[in-house]
Amino acid sequence: MKRTHTCGELNLKNVGTKVILQGWIAKIRKMGALTFIDLRDRYGITQLVIGEKLSSSLASLKPEYVIEVSGLVIERKSKNPDLATGAIEIEVNEIVIINKSELTPFEIKNQIESQEDTRLTYRYLDLRRPEMQNNLLVRSQMNHSIRNYFIENNFIEIETPVFGKSTPEGARDFLVPSRLNQGKFYALPQSPQLYKQLFMISGFDRYFQIVKCFRNEDLRIDRQPEFTQLDMEMSFANSEDVMQTIESLVKKVFLDIKKIKINEPITRLSWADAFDKYGNDKPDLRFGYEIKTLNDLFLKTTIPLFENINNKVIRAICVTGLLNKKDLEALTETAKQNSVEILPFVKFNNNEWSGSLASKLSDSEKQSLIEKYNLKEEATILFAVDDYIKASKALGAVRNHIAKLQDLLDPNIFKFAWITNFPLFEFSEEENRYVAAHHPFTMPSDECLDNFDTDKENATAKAYDLVLNGFEIGGGSQRITDPNIQQRMFDAIELTKEQVEQNFGWFVNAYRYGAPYHSGCALGLDRICMLLTGSENIREVIAFPKNSSGIDPMTNAPDAVTLSQLEELNLQIKK
Ligand code: AMO
Repeated sequence: MKRTHTCGELNLKNVGTKVILQGWIAKIRKMGALTFIDLRDRYGITQLVIGEKLSSSLASLKPEYVIEVSGLVIERKSKNPDLATGAIEIEVNEIVIINKSELTPFEIKNQIESQEDTRLTYRYLDLRRPEMQNNLLVRSQMNHSIRNYFIENNFIEIETPVFGKSTPEGARDFLVPSRLNQGKFYALPQSPQLYKQLFMISGFDRYFQIVKCFRNEDLRIDRQPEFTQLDMEMSFANSEDVMQTIESLVKKVFLDIKKIKINEPITRLSWADAFDKYGNDKPDLRFGYEIKTLNDLFLKTTIPLFENINNKVIRAICVTGLLNKKDLEALTETAKQNSVEILPFVKFNNNEWSGSLASKLSDSEKQSLIEKYNLKEEATILFAVDDYIKASKALGAVRNHIAKLQDLLDPNIFKFAWITNFPLFEFSEEENRYVAAHHPFTMPSDECLDNFDTDKENATAKAYDLVLNGFEIGGGSQRITDPNIQQRMFDAIELTKEQVEQNFGWFVNAYRYGAPYHSGCALGLDRICMLLTGSENIREVIAFPKNSSGIDPMTNAPDAVTLSQLEELNLQIKK
C-alpha cells in the first residue's frame, strides 16, 4: 500500500519522519498564510499544515474530497490533548486529489441533527461518521470475542438453512415463494431452533452460530425484521449448564470490550418475582423503586377508591422526591396506555402530606406508609387499584418512566439479571386456547411434570431469559427429549395429530433415534451491541437497517416487482 501510516497513529515519536497519508478532508481552516486541514480515516484525524507554496492546489479542495499527502511529521506548537495525534502535524509538500465529493446532505461528524430517513438514505455517508464507525467496530470486536470464547470451549460453528418450512407457534414468518414448486413457500427462519436441536441428535454436542434471524413483527427501538443472534445448544447439559456458559461469555465480552470486570454471579429472579416487584419480565435493575401490594395497610380505610375492592389489589410504588404536576400528568398517561385509568398519589414532605389522596389518609395509614417505605424527607407514592396483572403492568411502565424523568438510567452502569421459571403457557384470547409461551419444545419444570397439561395456568418451564438494563438480551430453555412428554405438550396446546404430523412430523421423528438431553440459548447481538455502545436503538449498530416502518429508504425495499416476475411465480397481487 502506498500510505505509510493511518490518520490515527502518528505521535511525537514519529517527528522527523517522512509520511504519506490518504483520507477524507474533514475540515479546512485558513489562518493567515497557512491552511490547516483535518484529514480523516477510520483510525482518527491528523492535522495537515500547508504553506503558501502549495496554495494553488488548495483552491480546489473541499470537505470530503479524498486526498493523498506527502510530508514531514513535525511537533505542534499548540497541542490538542483530545486527539490521539494532537501533539503532531504534517508539514505537507505534495497534495494529490484521489477523488472529489459533492456537497454531502449532512456534515460528516458526530451528533448530527439530521432526520433518520436522510441518514438511512445516505447510509454510506452516515457510516463515515466517527460514532457510527465506532459502533460497527465494537460490533466486530463483540463477534470476535464471542467466536473466540466458543472455539476455546470446544463448540463448533455450523450454518443452518435460510430457506425453511413455515411452522406455526411463533411470530409471523417472512415467506419466499418458490418458482420451481409453484404455489409453495419457504419461510425465513425466526431462529435456527429446530435445526440446532437436530444437531444434538447428530452428535454435535456443542454448537454455536452467529446467525441472521427474520421475524415479521411490528418494529420497536429494539426490534428489526432481520436481526442477529448468537445461537448455541449443548448436549448432556441442563439449564444450569447453559446459564453458566452464557454467563461466562457475557462477562468475557464486557471485559474485552468495556474493560468491566463482573465478579459476582448474575442476579436471578423468578418470572413471578420479577413481575411482582417490577411489573414486567425484563426489569431494569439500575434503580430500585419496587412495586408493593398494600391491601393489608388499607383494611379499615375510608378512602372510597380503596374500599370494597373485591378481587382488585392496591399496588404502589414509592419514589424519592416530590413529583410535579406535569410529571404526574405524564405518568398518568403512561398508566392509561397500560389500561389503568387513574394514578392516585400522595406526597410526603417532612411529615406533611399532600396529593389527591392525602386528605383522606387516616393517621394510622400515614404511620404505616412511613414505616413501610421508611419515609424521611421527600417522597411521592403512586397507587394503581386494579386486577393484579393490570395494576402491576401499569406500575411497571410508570416505574420505567419515572427513571427517565429522574435521570436514573446511566448507560455506563450494566445490571444483568436471569429471569427463570417462566410460565409454560400463555392464554391466547385470539385463538381461545393455551399456546406455548416460549416454543412447544420447552421442558416443563420438575415440579409440574405430572400435571402441566391439566393445570396449564400454573405450569412453569425450564426456560430462562437474560436481561440487561431493562432489555431482554437473550433467552433459552431445556428441551423436551422424551416423546411422551412432547405428545402431552402438543395435546396441551390442542394441536391435532394431523397438525403435528404436517408441521413438525419431520422433527418429532428425529427424537425416535436416540436423543441426548440438551439445552440452549440465543442472545440478541444487536441489542447487546446497542447497550455496549450506549446507543438509543438497535438501528444505530446495524450497518443497513430498516426504518421504523420496515423500509430501507436507500434502496426503497420492499418494492413492487414486475408482472413477469409475479407470473413466473404464479402469483397475482390482489387489487
Ligand atoms: P428468543 O425468541 O427469545 O429465543 O430470541 C433470542 C433473542 O433474540 C433477540 N431478538 C431480537 N432482536 C432484535 N429484533 C428482533 N425482532 C428480535 N427478536 C428477538 C432478543 C431475544 O432475547 N430459539 C430461541 C432461543 C433458544 O431457545 O435457544 C429464540 O430465538 O434479544
